[in-house]
Amino acid sequence: EPPEIIVPVLIVGAGPSGATTALLLGRYGIPTMAISRHHGTANTPRAHIFNQRAMEVLRDAGIEHLVKPIASTNEEIAHVAWLHSLNGEEYGRVYAWGNKPDRIGEYLTSSPCEMSDLPQSVLEPILVEEARVLGADIRFSTEYLSHERSPDGRIVTRVRNRVSLETYRVISQYLVGADGARSAVVSSLGIPIDGEQLDDAFNVYIRADLSKYFAPRPASMVWILNPDAPDWSSHGSIRMVRAWNEFIVSMHNAKGNLNFEPKDDDVLKRVRQMIGDDRIDIELLGHFRWTINDQVARTWQKDNVLCIGDAVHRHPPINGLGSNTCISDAFNIAWKLAYVLRGQADPSILDTLTPERKPVGDGIVRRANDGMLVHRRLWAFMGSTQEERAAVSAKLEAPTDDGARARRKLRSMIEETDDEFNSLGIQMNQIYSKSRLTLVEDWDVPPDCQSINVMKRQVLSTFPGFHLPHVWLVKDGQSERISTLDLVGHGHFVAFTGIGGQAWIDAADKLRSEEVLVKAFGIGRGLDYLDAYWDWENVRGVEENGLVLVRPDHFVCWRCKKLSKNPYQTLRDVMHKLLW
Ligand code: FDA
Repeated sequence: EPPEIIVPVLIVGAGPSGATTALLLGRYGIPTMAISRHHGTANTPRAHIFNQRAMEVLRDAGIEHLVKPIASTNEEIAHVAWLHSLNGEEYGRVYAWGNKPDRIGEYLTSSPCEMSDLPQSVLEPILVEEARVLGADIRFSTEYLSHERSPDGRIVTRVRNRVSLETYRVISQYLVGADGARSAVVSSLGIPIDGEQLDDAFNVYIRADLSKYFAPRPASMVWILNPDAPDWSSHGSIRMVRAWNEFIVSMHNAKGNLNFEPKDDDVLKRVRQMIGDDRIDIELLGHFRWTINDQVARTWQKDNVLCIGDAVHRHPPINGLGSNTCISDAFNIAWKLAYVLRGQADPSILDTLTPERKPVGDGIVRRANDGMLVHRRLWAFMGSTQEERAAVSAKLEAPTDDGARARRKLRSMIEETDDEFNSLGIQMNQIYSKSRLTLVEDWDVPPDCQSINVMKRQVLSTFPGFHLPHVWLVKDGQSERISTLDLVGHGHFVAFTGIGGQAWIDAADKLRSEEVLVKAFGIGRGLDYLDAYWDWENVRGVEENGLVLVRPDHFVCWRCKKLSKNPYQTLRDVMHKLLW
């Protein structure tokens, strides 16, 4: 008999989704084991953009202070530009990632965290290390082979150490499939994947001091559109990894034909051409391909197996939604697993994963792929052969009607990328409207989402199923600000009430003494927190003595217009309905 290990949760994968799950479960005191078939964390930079929702999760997990100082700042990713070469003529640029002067306020309003930029290769070791500190047993070079349900409902997973070749069994109550785009867990469950695999991307990882070109025009990336590019890489981008000495150079082909096998010399020559300055020393750190997909798994859960991350949503890096969504997925399942394993909720709350997260996954996969088309159209317009590109280039400079038309066309195509670089809504509006954990009272009406562009703009609302809005409050008697998002989370349900709502607070105290994890805060003059800017009053959507109830993952699950006749009974019934 091979040896066996018993653990409450086995996580397959130690990438952004698996490692965040291990970290959060560690915070909630749940022992986990996470395995990764690779011998270490990501060895290439991969996803970079770190959006506010993802940072809010890490703030809740207590590691924002570790991540923020080493991330590139919001100012450093202020633009995206289109250039002839890095050292050459500029076609134009856009403000990106919350730096558009007429949008900055929206990003500031939406979160206590800022947009920043951090390559996965830097993020993953932090997640893994912190999860380990909290007791997670993370094993690299360890491969998932298969799993089955034992008669007692537990899961028996066969794993293999890829170094010693030893095979052993891990027995867990829950299995998390966070094993990336080629998920063996998802395939073993026979879950259909909707959508298709698209083409490969060819990325070159370089070290070079490009501060001369990036510092005066800080940018997360620049696109290079040069007529004399080789046809195998007719277009490409230079993506900052670390400001300003590490970059990923992506080589694209307007025809979508990526079967090219360039030699190191060709690659270096093309990188040099894109930079356009022979005085720059370039160190080639490696090149690799990865597959761009347009895929979502039809269901994300089967019995006690929960699948998250790239295992269930796969898409291009447009809008920078990849690892961010993985981190939010992990936040969604971690508290539910903890509650169930501690006997504080019925296992059926885990069935909310698909209804809550799949619509988010569908949305980001659609957006990222729609955004990819904008680039493809731009490349096609600029020409796929050297002759075509030379002709377009000449036209763009011509003092003719044709030239003016071409310039207008190029401008409108570049401006279309605004949906990629300034879409606060797709990052922040994750709405759980079809969940049994969303309780809507008869009197309540959802905010009007028809009249606004929900992809671009955040909808600030405490309607059940919406993410709790971030509002700055002030602790009674102090002057320092604290976010509503700092009062919620950490594994607790949190209820907010106001003047006249003391009975809700007493009710929560009583419930807590009965082991129901609900805290309550009063917001108003003389209460726990002062609504100093009156922003809470603008969003709370209930009367002063009403109540807004927030789940441990920062989503509103119920709100009550005013003080009920028997607040203890009401809150108890709601908590029971949610958790049992
Ligand atoms: P992820 O793929 O990161 O991790 C999967 C984990 O599962 C790994 O730990 C792996 O070892 C493990 N695993 C897989 N099979 C296993 C098995 N059978 N047994 C045990 N463990 C197993 N995104 C982006 O936005 N911009 C970009 O430029 C790039 N570039 C990029 C390059 C490359 C090479 C890759 C692979 C991916 C990208 N991505 C990207 C995508 C981005 O990296 C992706 O969205 C996240 O890493 C997904 O995180 P997950 O944790 O879900 O899976």
